[in-house]
Amino acid sequence: MKHLALATLAAATLFTALPAAAQFQKPEDAIKYRRSALFVMGQHFGRIGAMAQGKVPFDAAAAAANADVVASMAKLPWAGFGPGTDSGDTNALPEVWLETEKFKGGQQKMQEELAKLATAAKSGNLDQLKAAFGDAGKTCKGCHEHFKKK
Ligand code: HEC
Repeated sequence: MKHLALATLAAATLFTALPAAAQFQKPEDAIKYRRSALFVMGQHFGRIGAMAQGKVPFDAAAAAANADVVASMAKLPWAGFGPGTDSGDTNALPEVWLETEKFKGGQQKMQEELAKLATAAKSGNLDQLKAAFGDAGKTCKGCHEHFKKK
């Protein structure tokens, strides 16, 4: 039990400390890192989407657990967009490094909507979940349209 608590604490510390401190050996590592984080985030976001769209039965506990993962994962990718990581195996557009304020704004807006999504998921109210999922999804789409290759 003690180990579990420590591991949980370590993981929580990681999630808060990593983005600012993250450093990568090579640009390829940064690209792989951000894409992996976005991929995992997308998987868990999609599971909530399936409930919001009625494709799988609404399960408030599962929705809340997924929303927490999404909100935590959403903090990670951005440290992987450092200088020199604009080319290689990536779908990021050059605008990421040219319009940094706009790119940051998109991240912040998403974090806000994901926090609301986590609250909505915990409420156990499907209508609230649907609305919050829609709002959060718009922030994904808005950023992708401008900063990501089709
Ligand atoms: C601030 C901008 C921004 C926001 C907000 C954003 N994304 Fe992205 N996303 C990107 C960029 C840029 C890439 C391309 C990364 C690359 O290829 O290096 C990407 C790539 C992805 C990928 C592909 C990862 C892979 O396998 O290569 C997924 C999945 C994804 N995003 C899901 C989401 C979801 C879900 C949301 C909303 C909850 C979201 N994104 C919000 C900018 C954003």
